[in-house]
Order: sequence, then C-alpha cells, then structure tokens
Amino acid sequence: MVNNQSDDRKLQSQTGDLPVMGPDGNFLYSIVFRDSFRDLPNEIQKVEDSIKTSYSKILIVTDSNVGPHFLSKLEADLKVLQIPLDHIVLPAGEEYKNLDSIRLIYQKLIEEHYDRQSLLLALGGGVIGDMTGFAAATYLRGVDFIQIPTTLLSQVDSSVGGKTGVDFQSYKNMVGAFYMPRLVYMNDQVYSTLPQEQLISGLGEVVKYGFICDKSFLDQLSDLHDRILAREPEALRTIVRASCAYKKAVVEQDPREKGIRAILNFGHTIGHAIEKKMNFTLFHGDCVGLGMVASLFLSRQRGLISAAEEESGVRLIQSFGLPVKLSDRAAIKVDAMPTPEEVLEATHSDKKRAGSKIRFILLDGIGNAVIQTDISDVEILEGIKRVLN
Ligand code: GLY
Repeated sequence: MVNNQSDDRKLQSQTGDLPVMGPDGNFLYSIVFRDSFRDLPNEIQKVEDSIKTSYSKILIVTDSNVGPHFLSKLEADLKVLQIPLDHIVLPAGEEYKNLDSIRLIYQKLIEEHYDRQSLLLALGGGVIGDMTGFAAATYLRGVDFIQIPTTLLSQVDSSVGGKTGVDFQSYKNMVGAFYMPRLVYMNDQVYSTLPQEQLISGLGEVVKYGFICDKSFLDQLSDLHDRILAREPEALRTIVRASCAYKKAVVEQDPREKGIRAILNFGHTIGHAIEKKMNFTLFHGDCVGLGMVASLFLSRQRGLISAAEEESGVRLIQSFGLPVKLSDRAAIKVDAMPTPEEVLEATHSDKKRAGSKIRFILLDGIGNAVIQTDISDVEILEGIKRVLN
C-alpha cells in the first residue's frame, strides 16, 4: 500500500526545466522544454562542463519515420559543437525493438571507432529511446546518452526514469537495464508532425498521472481539453511538463521499481495483456486507456472509489478519443478479439508480478494509487470483461 504520499506527487511549479535527482539527493540530469533544437548544443556543453568531459564523437540514433522530419535540422544545429557527428537510421516499429537492432548500433559504433567519450542521441519515440539507452548502457560498459523524444507518449513516459531495453521473443521489455540519460530534451516542434492517433495514445499516459498522483490534474486536463486536442503548444507544454514532474517525483523515490514506482503501471497489467493478444496492432496508450477503465472498475468493485468517480474517470478517458471498450477501435474485427480468458492468461507472464503474485495497481480515491498483491484472477477477469464486451 502507498498512503499519504500523493501530496509529494502533486503538481509542482508550472514552468522551467526539471532536475531529476538520485536516491542520495545527487543531481542526475535535467528535463528541458524548448521550442526548437537550437538550444541543444548549449545543453550538451552544460553536460560536458558538469561531468568535466569533452565528447569525442556523437552518434544520432533515429528511425525511418522520424529521421526524414528532424535529422537534417538536428545535425545542422549541432554543427556549432564541432564534434564529429554521424547517424544511424533503424527501421521504425515495435517489431524492430530487439537485439538485432542493438547489434546494428554496436556494429556502427565499433566500425566507426566510437570510444568511451562518445555520446549517443536518441531521436525518436519510445522504441528508439529504449534501444539507444540500452546500447549506451552496454557499449564499452557504458557511454553517455541523451533522450530527444519525438512523440507525446515518449515525452511523458519512457524518456524519463532510465528504463532501457528491448523486447525478447513475445515478451515486452524483457531484456534491459536501468541507465540514466545525461539530459532529456523536449522540443515542442515535434507535435506538428505527430499523427493524431499517436497524440491520443500519448494522452493515455498523461491522464494516468492524474488518476495515480493528483485529482486536480484531471480537472486541469478537462479545462485544457479543447486546446490540447487543437495542439496548442502552450497547452501541450503544460501537460507534458506536469506529467514529467509527476514521473520524476515517483522515480526519484524508487528508481529501480522496488516499490512505489510500480504505481506508474496503473492500467498496464490488463493494458499490456490486450496489447500482446492484439499482436501490438493497437497503440500503447489505447491499451493503457482500456486497462485504466478496467482498473477504475475494479477499484469501484472494492469500494475504493465511488460509482460516480468511476464514471467521470471513464468519461474523461473517452473525451480524449481513447477507447473505453476494445470494440471502440472500429478497425478491429470481432473474430480478431481475444477472449477474456486469453487476456487473463497473458497477464500471468507480465513482469509486474512479484514472485507468483501480481502487483496490481488500483486507486484508493482518485489521485491516490495503491499497490495490491491480493487481487484474484476472478476479479481481474471481471475487469477484462468490462472492456472486452
Ligand atoms: N513506464 C513506467 C516506468 O517508467 O516505470
């Protein structure tokens, strides 16, 4: 159980960069919010000064979707550093988040003689961020890397907190390392090229922070609703920064997910299982949306939230275009849908288990997540049925 901690996680001041601290109160890295790549050289120099190292070479790791939009602009802006600069463009998609792609990065680094003073830049969504981080964690036993997330989803979740890795066979993020970036650099410009479905997917993780950390953030999201969907940069910057502040507060307390960090998995146990049973054809945030609806239902079943709270939570999820039933994604044919029992089975292989027990996240009041280890398969099945029917 996590009690009386939600005050710590409440919305901090609304503007400015966010420093992320380690468990001993030592500074780890900054999350910065900008409207172009122009300030990145300056931020890299600040990192160099703080670690008293000059980078010898920079490798930008990106993918075939993101590269055409941002690579040449980024490379042009980085020239001023006068550090040898190159890039590798990996095929885009979760299906390439594997050790074969890591091998390609290693090959490039070895063939081009990248040494310990090298810097990797992850320019892309969560897949690129996780893989670049993992390659950085392991190449020569660790070189520095910077996250430049280009999707809303990766800005508000995977770029912060140092989880890196790849999928292995059908197991998501099964191989990896906790390895902190030196900097997370957000650029508002990236929203202009982001497909609407990806924006909506990212909003699934944004809404999550309100449910688990701060009810007033849900009110703020309702107020900003139209401006968010209209992609007003100021509205998006506000919710991205707030999301990062919540995530930072949680990961600072528990960087290696020994306890409270698990609350970030609200909606993910059932969400991941649906994602897996749908062969990753749905967006991650859509699956988290479904998982959150199921978890709101289970929280209400246990008397932890009221029916009115469940209903308004579901309405908010729906208002941002996220599915609240699997059939809301019209492209999905009924015969392609898994059965509730199949989804339940898929929750059993989830990493979010502690030994044989599942660490399921429920809400004890909106804005206060609790970790439950006594949730039964019968209850989980009920939750799954809530979103599969
Ligand atoms: N995405 C959940 C976490 O970083 O812990």
